[in-house]
Amino acid sequence: MKGLILSGGKGTRLRPLTYTSAKQLVPVANKPVLFYGIEAIAEAGIRDIGIVVGDTQAEIRAAVGDGSRWGVRIEYIVQDAPRGLAHAVKISQPFIGDEPFVMYLGDNLLNQGITKFVREFDEQKPAAQILLTRVPDPEMFGVAQLENGKVVRLVEKPKQPIGDLALVGVYMFGPQVFESVNRIKPSFRNELEITDAIQDLIDRGLTVRPHIVDGWWKDTGKLEDMLEANRLILETFDRRIDGTVDAESRIEGKVVIEKGAAVQQSVIRGPAIIGRGARIVHAYVGPFTSIGNDVEIKDSEIEHSIVLEGSSVRDLANRVIDSLIGKNVRIYREPVKPSAYRFMLGDNSEVGIRW
Ligand code: DAU
Repeated sequence: MKGLILSGGKGTRLRPLTYTSAKQLVPVANKPVLFYGIEAIAEAGIRDIGIVVGDTQAEIRAAVGDGSRWGVRIEYIVQDAPRGLAHAVKISQPFIGDEPFVMYLGDNLLNQGITKFVREFDEQKPAAQILLTRVPDPEMFGVAQLENGKVVRLVEKPKQPIGDLALVGVYMFGPQVFESVNRIKPSFRNELEITDAIQDLIDRGLTVRPHIVDGWWKDTGKLEDMLEANRLILETFDRRIDGTVDAESRIEGKVVIEKGAAVQQSVIRGPAIIGRGARIVHAYVGPFTSIGNDVEIKDSEIEHSIVLEGSSVRDLANRVIDSLIGKNVRIYREPVKPSAYRFMLGDNSEVGIRW
């Protein structure tokens, strides 16, 4: 069995971060989302993984490498434009050959891994196996309709409600899917939809096995989902303090402080992670916060947020909450008159001021 991870596409909903960075590399609990997918596939015993890449391929290749770090072999498959998930499958046929494969969307996170699903698929050998979960906003996903436990219909981003069982971004296929991806036509959003390819398998009378997942699942495409994924992952951490903490600081609960990080005169209330080389000085880092490598938090308070490497937050009067701060961002207070807001923000940035 082979693995196929889709890491092309455009991350429009995470702009401005995704102007300069692949959305699959935005970290959750200080680890790129994509790495969780690679780990899940490696853990299921799969050794050959193809990663479909697009415009952000250089950055993805640099971060992931040849896979040896996870004991797998990684091959890159270049997609010229984001023409849809089924298009990504189509161009991956030379890599897959006639083996069954698991397809994993590079911006998805599944808490329970995929080992159990891969084993089931291997035993039952259906043409496809899909994972489903109930969601409050099915119009944002591919949705499946079941009858007597069988998949009868699939619709991508349905405008008319057909139920609340969303397709999770992990699919397992036999080689029959290649005929389907070659038959379907582009959708309303001008993409070759994997949802339509699976419908085609059903129309051909082949078995599509549904599996309703009971653990949590997140598509990390939006800020709220990133923060929630961050919260869910941090909650699973054990306390580990490898950095230095002075006698005037207090570390409460599940907190990871990486080697080379320094905490002085501060309170860190977990679950939280402080990356390598970060400096937390006279500050408060509250629950559900991931502080990246080499970040500085000084004379400020922050919680329920993600701060990427190299950024600094200094001397703020109010607590920072619910925020996703990119790389090398500087937020600081200037003690000069007139008092005012002064911004230098990229396109599609967002600033919320609450009082
Ligand atoms: O997250 C689950 C949902 O993922 C499913 O419920 C939907 O049925 C499925 O179509 C997909 O919907 P999205 O609109 O969220 O897909 P997105 O465009 O975000 O792409 C998912 C991943 O695949 C992402 O890591 C980018 C990558 N991708 C996407 C396209 C369109 C590619 O590598 N190539 C592509 O052409």
